[in-house]
Amino acid sequence: MSAPLIEHIGILVPDLEAAIERWTAVTGYTFSPIARYRTQNYQDRVDPCPHFHDARISFSLEGPPRIELMEVTGEGTHGPEQIGVHHFGFPGTADPEGRMEELAAIGVADDGKALTDDGRILLWFTDKGALDGTRLEYVSPLPGPTVADDGSALWVDPATGRNSLWGPPKR
Ligand SMILES: [Fe+2]
Repeated sequence: MSAPLIEHIGILVPDLEAAIERWTAVTGYTFSPIARYRTQNYQDRVDPCPHFHDARISFSLEGPPRIELMEVTGEGTHGPEQIGVHHFGFPGTADPEGRMEELAAIGVADDGKALTDDGRILLWFTDKGALDGTRLEYVSPLPGPTVADDGSALWVDPATGRNSLWGPPKR
């Protein structure tokens, strides 16, 4: 098996609208409409009980690696002291639980995970202390809990069954 490439780089920012404006001006990239990764089942070291997590996000069209801008939320993995390069993302990780076990076996712990209602991992982050201050993010192929910025449902691509930050294709 070849090693998976980094699909996106997540950067935690204090103000998402300002960050989109600045990153657009500097990179020339196009950023998606703002959405929210919204779940009731987030756990991290600061708050290991399943809790509400509502991260406002925007992805670049360009990539991979795409740039994921995320706005500060909560006190743990996405808290204000975590601003800066936050993670390297690997979506489509077929067995995120297995990957967690593999990395734990070589001393790379987890800190931060979103679960389905029945306890399966939607995504998880490595502990930033394990890899020199940067996390890896493993995202399951299961449909994620992303909604539009106003909380409404995102458009779902009938071809893939997955929602999209970008809406239906422009004709
Ligand atoms: Fe990410």
